[in-house]
Amino acid sequence: MVQAVYLQTYGCQMNERDSEEILGMLIAHGYAIVEREEEADVILLNTCSVRAHAEERAFGKMGLMQKLKRERPELVLGILGCMAKAQREEVFRRLPQVDLVAGPAEIYDLPDLLAGVAERRQRAERGAGAHVLAVDRKVRPLDRRPVTGYRAGRVTAFVTIMEGCDKKCAYCIVPTTRGQEVSRPVDEILDEVQQLARAGYRQVILLGQNVNSYGKRFPDGSGWVGPARRRALLQLEARNGPGEADADPRATPRLVDFPALLRAIDRKTSIDRVRFTTSHPFDAHEELFRVMAECRAVCEFLHLPVQTGSDGILRAMRRGYTTETYLAQIARLRTLVPEVAVSTDIIVGFPGETETDFEATCALMERVRYDSAFVFKYSPRPGTEAAAWPDDVPQLVKERRNQVILELQARISREKLEAGVGSEVEVLVEERNRRGQLTGKSRGNTTVVIEGPDTLIGELVAARVTRVTGTTMIGELADCGERLTCGSGARSH
Ligand code: 5AD
Ligand code: SF4
Repeated sequence: MVQAVYLQTYGCQMNERDSEEILGMLIAHGYAIVEREEEADVILLNTCSVRAHAEERAFGKMGLMQKLKRERPELVLGILGCMAKAQREEVFRRLPQVDLVAGPAEIYDLPDLLAGVAERRQRAERGAGAHVLAVDRKVRPLDRRPVTGYRAGRVTAFVTIMEGCDKKCAYCIVPTTRGQEVSRPVDEILDEVQQLARAGYRQVILLGQNVNSYGKRFPDGSGWVGPARRRALLQLEARNGPGEADADPRATPRLVDFPALLRAIDRKTSIDRVRFTTSHPFDAHEELFRVMAECRAVCEFLHLPVQTGSDGILRAMRRGYTTETYLAQIARLRTLVPEVAVSTDIIVGFPGETETDFEATCALMERVRYDSAFVFKYSPRPGTEAAAWPDDVPQLVKERRNQVILELQARISREKLEAGVGSEVEVLVEERNRRGQLTGKSRGNTTVVIEGPDTLIGELVAARVTRVTGTTMIGELADCGERLTCGSGARSH
């Protein structure tokens, strides 16, 4: 009998992409996908551990699912993803009805793990011994990656370019949950992007916990390894000229890093737009900004999380840069790519954050004038370095600081958006919203709403901005009303 699977995803875009891969694999193994948990034989939650709140939501949801299982004991419940890795056996203690706990590095084992659950059931092994726990891999085995076609979107597709994170930010659980960095080979990525373009996708979002360290370690052990080897390869290139990113590395040693990957995608595939997330300021080099300026497909948008505007807190966070070097990066970026839109993540209430530290964050935000910002209240994550320090900023203070940043950014965003009224933007039309209007994104990642026919979905159009509401631009099709062909027309935001 066909087994029906319901999968809910929490957390970041990496998780959304992992869920697509999971669904693709399960479809290939004969499962059917359902939209409602009541119709499912297997309920899976792909979870996030980045803040306590994300974990509590998943625990709460699975608690409700346990009730369903009391009525239908044959139901299979699984916790996947980062929380599975962070909480391990603790999941079974808090949720005894859960059958399977599998981490991000075990994603490709999922069909086998589910078969294992079924087998144990048949042998009528019940109780704690029947639980399946798979969380011990350190690196996701990319050589076992199955090629599946399932994608949630039709216009934009996620493409994972690397897994894991080698950084040691004091607050962050991700290096623990997602393991060591490993990059996918260039030609595999180029093939995937070109197949997507052929299938009608117009935009790819390249994903990695730190896309800027792409190429550090490939599955075959090659890669630029560390900053010293990276510099040596750059010197070689300066002498020999740059090689193609996907050429044979034994013929000419060359640097295959993130900018090289972007150039290769721009030159060798027919995808119209490329975005990427997320960038760590320590590894974002000037060459990245040049690529953004020179490559038509690469959108002029950079998410460059600063986290705080206080040098003392940056040091405690072990971010590896100062506000001075960060501001110099932003200045260089804006010189090379004047129309670029920039966004950030901010954490308020990190251990030891004083009012002066917080004011420094506000001051930095006033200086940079981000186009958008995500703000988070610090949440101690067991097992991270900072979890050992007193969480000494009171909750009420965290909430106030959070609110101040939100208001500050809302004002700056509004001012920047209003300055764009009257200008023309290139919009990739993605879908109809609930009000029946077409919506899409500008190159700078602002949502733009326009009126128009369904045939524009999946098209690049030029739109004139008539007004703004909240964080959205309202536009009308520009005079020509024509679809843009590659290389023509609007590039501003
Ligand atoms: N507490 C609060 N925010 C966090 N982030 C990561 N870890 C924590 C934590 N322990 C935020 C960072 C990161 C974003 C994805 O989540 O700002 O960039
Ligand atoms: Fe959450 Fe981070 Fe894991 Fe993404 S990588 S799911 S944000 S903990």
